[in-house]
Amino acid sequence: MTVLTRESQREPQRLLPLEKAPAHVAIIMDGNGRWARRRGLPRTAGHRHGTENLRQIIRAAVEFGVRILTIYAFSTENWSRPRREVMLLMRILEMVIDRELQELHDEGVQIRHIGELDGIEKRLARKMAEACAYTRDNNRLILNVAFNYGGRDEIVRAVQRIVEAGIAARDINEATISDYLYTSDLPDPDLIIRTSGEFRLSNFLIWQGAYSEIYTTETYWPDFDRLAFHRALTAYGKRQRRFGKTGEQIEAENRPRDFHENGQG
Ligand code: FPP
Repeated sequence: MTVLTRESQREPQRLLPLEKAPAHVAIIMDGNGRWARRRGLPRTAGHRHGTENLRQIIRAAVEFGVRILTIYAFSTENWSRPRREVMLLMRILEMVIDRELQELHDEGVQIRHIGELDGIEKRLARKMAEACAYTRDNNRLILNVAFNYGGRDEIVRAVQRIVEAGIAARDINEATISDYLYTSDLPDPDLIIRTSGEFRLSNFLIWQGAYSEIYTTETYWPDFDRLAFHRALTAYGKRQRRFGKTGEQIEAENRPRDFHENGQG
């Protein structure tokens, strides 16, 4: 990618290996507008720099052993932004597909879309669908692009499809709902990162994120680099995920079982 020439030419700084890499990381790429305003630039410049930044984060995800990266590129609520900004975000996605598709494919990235293509300009919707089809056999990293995505909308659509499928109320459980979400064949995100010092999910993966670890940083998205990403994953590695259990239970589960506990003594 041309815009990342400087980054790619530099020998990447050696970072400590991660003890425990999360399999699925989701990112709310926030702060593009404030990044631009601080520099006296239009908000659109923030989105452009945010897009450039994405490339190094995708690369770093592969390097750090992340298997699935879900990025929040455009929410169902983002339609209420000024028309010019909405148009620009659409153009950016198209440009990313045009310019980056081959390189992402060569690097083994499988592109997926979550959200609705209905309502998106036909040409862009077609390109998005083609990019997904072109890369579907890749398995180094799944890049889930949440575009025209809303978590509540996703759940409503899931419920509608469950009803349409004629599934009886008594047969509906949590697994049924999960099976009808865009992410039906993927594990829930282990870690959700939000940049720019905000502490909200903003309708992002609200079902799937029920037990995700959440990491926030003051850094605006265009400045959230490989090092900042590594810091987030390191912080994740230090968390104890309890899934409703007590810390003592989790410690006991993780303790190597000894001779007596194995019932051999
Ligand atoms: C939030 O910053 C960012 C967005 C709404 C758009 C995120 C999109 C990109 C980084 C690039 C697009 C990537 C693809 C794959 C098309 P904000 O504008 O809300 O920032 P602010 O809160 O500082 O105003």
